[in-house]
Amino acid sequence: MKFSHELVEKNVGLLAILIVVAISFGGIAEIVPLIYIDETNEPVEGLTPYTALQMEGRDVYIREGCSNCHSQMIRPFRAETERYGHYSVAGEHVWEHPFLWGSKRTGPDLARVGGRYSDTWHKVHLTDPRAVVPESNMPAYPWLNDNVLDGAHTEAKLKVFRDHFGVPYSEDDAVLQKDAQSVVGKTEMEALIAYLQVLGTAL
Ligand code: HEC
Repeated sequence: MKFSHELVEKNVGLLAILIVVAISFGGIAEIVPLIYIDETNEPVEGLTPYTALQMEGRDVYIREGCSNCHSQMIRPFRAETERYGHYSVAGEHVWEHPFLWGSKRTGPDLARVGGRYSDTWHKVHLTDPRAVVPESNMPAYPWLNDNVLDGAHTEAKLKVFRDHFGVPYSEDDAVLQKDAQSVVGKTEMEALIAYLQVLGTAL
């Protein structure tokens, strides 16, 4: 039988099989190299795991849905690198679980916001964005000043990252416990700012 387009188009089963074959070529071409390129799974030099306080801040960031408006992924285009700094590389995100790259940019990308503003600026901005950026439509998060961390789950969180995700925290539980205890009494605002200030600073 002559192999023709007509044959494929009239035979749904065959069409489906050929579609799967065609798509898997694309998948293989994208996935297989990643398994062999160390750059994508090796941390960049100078990357340090989040401190307990930064880790708590990251959880506040997730809870408050900051990534619904802010990406953390600078693409390798001139317009982006001029505005935000060096494009994001995989090695900066190897210990992120889940990663917070996001895709929605109602506000600016935050991948390299660390060190761009003072802690005080962030505190004022998060408490009332209009106080520093009059035209801002970012929501205010005043309650972060009042919510105090009790550290109840902090040590457990660090252990999950160490034992299940391979993040190189100390093998000594006492060290983790001490770091975890250091968050007790800090506000969620302090934790979130500590997290924002470390973003993108490893590279
Ligand atoms: C509804 C969308 C929205 C949400 C949700 C949101 N933001 Fe924003 N954010 C913006 C907009 C718009 C701007 C730009 C205006 C401004 O600076 O306020 C901004 C600016 C910022 C900036 C300054 C960035 C820069 O480079 O100038 C930071 C930092 C920031 N947001 C952090 C946060 C954090 C942390 C959260 C979660 C607690 C959050 N945002 C939630 C919209 C949002």
